[in-house]
Amino acid sequence: MKSTILVLSLLSLAGPAFLLPQAPSSTTPKPADTKNITFVLSASKIPSQDDYSEIDAFVKVSSVSKGGDKERLGTTDTIRDDASPEWNNVFWVEWRKGSGQKLEFIVKDHDVLDSDDEAGEGLLDLDEFVQKDQNVTLTLSKGGELYIKGTQPIRFMLYARNVPELDRINGGEARGDPYVNLYWRKGKEGANRQFATSSVLDNDPSPDWPEVFEFDQYRKGTEQYLFFEVKDHDTLNADEHVGSYLLEADSYVKNNTKLVVSLTDGEGDGSVEFGIVPAQNPPPKIIVSAK
Ligand SMILES: *[C@@H]1O[C@H](CO)[C@@H](O)[C@H](O)[C@H]1NC(C)=O
Ligand SMILES: *[C@@H]1O[C@H](CO)[C@@H](O)[C@H](O)[C@H]1NC(C)=O
Ligand SMILES: *[C@@H]1O[C@H](CO)[C@@H](O)[C@H](O)[C@H]1NC(C)=O
Repeated sequence: MKSTILVLSLLSLAGPAFLLPQAPSSTTPKPADTKNITFVLSASKIPSQDDYSEIDAFVKVSSVSKGGDKERLGTTDTIRDDASPEWNNVFWVEWRKGSGQKLEFIVKDHDVLDSDDEAGEGLLDLDEFVQKDQNVTLTLSKGGELYIKGTQPIRFMLYARNVPELDRINGGEARGDPYVNLYWRKGKEGANRQFATSSVLDNDPSPDWPEVFEFDQYRKGTEQYLFFEVKDHDTLNADEHVGSYLLEADSYVKNNTKLVVSLTDGEGDGSVEFGIVPAQNPPPKIIVSAK
């Protein structure tokens, strides 16, 4: 019995899983066959559900197993008055190759007074999504299209040196209490969308922020930029601007090395050094041989 399972799983590792009609339901998939898939959603021409305005759309996302078990992966924010919304939310699902897993999308029109109207739905085969380079268009049941696009999260740590004393009030704290706001943009001049904030490091002109930051929206070749804004926390006044830096995501990911730059447009007069250091992705799952 044990050896049968072993042979079966070796087979599915060796050959393309889609050649097997279906995996026997008694075998649990090996870790090597699972992968964390992350994705974002956008849509176009979702029909309005009333006569007054464009749709206030949000999407409920679930994973559905071959046996019909449904697991809610999450719900997007509501985007008001927009038939072609682009949601900021990133979803993830553990893909089990060849297991017949599907993603279910239910688009709704948010209604403040009444219950939310359904505005269409779609079903996506997860194996097909991976085969199509994680870039798929679904036609929704009531018209309009939903785009599902895979992302490749990136992780990094941050530090700064020579952070100046910017507190304007006499007798205020002598040194800076620096922190970083992290934004991303679509295109160099795109709007800032915040995805993280660092901790505030008290009285530290040479902060090494302890966090590992994750930009989970990263999609290669889509003109994404990361914008770092270093601030000096001030309990009495507005926080001062230490400086900022705009980074092209593709170039950073391609180089995959520590990047040391000078912050621009700060209020201080010295040059502030800023470091962006690639961090490890979570360790891959280790397959331990059974005793
Ligand atoms: C999958 O990736 C997302 C984004 O990086 C992460 O938040 C999530 O914890 C990961 N899930 C697993 C099971 O590793
Ligand atoms: C995704 O698919 C769309 C439509 O097929 C195509 O226009 C677009 O270039 C693709 N994007 C990527 C990053 O492959
Ligand atoms: C990546 O490397 C190239 C060539 O060394 C360099 O010109 C570029 O500035 C680097 N970009 C980043 C973001 O590290």
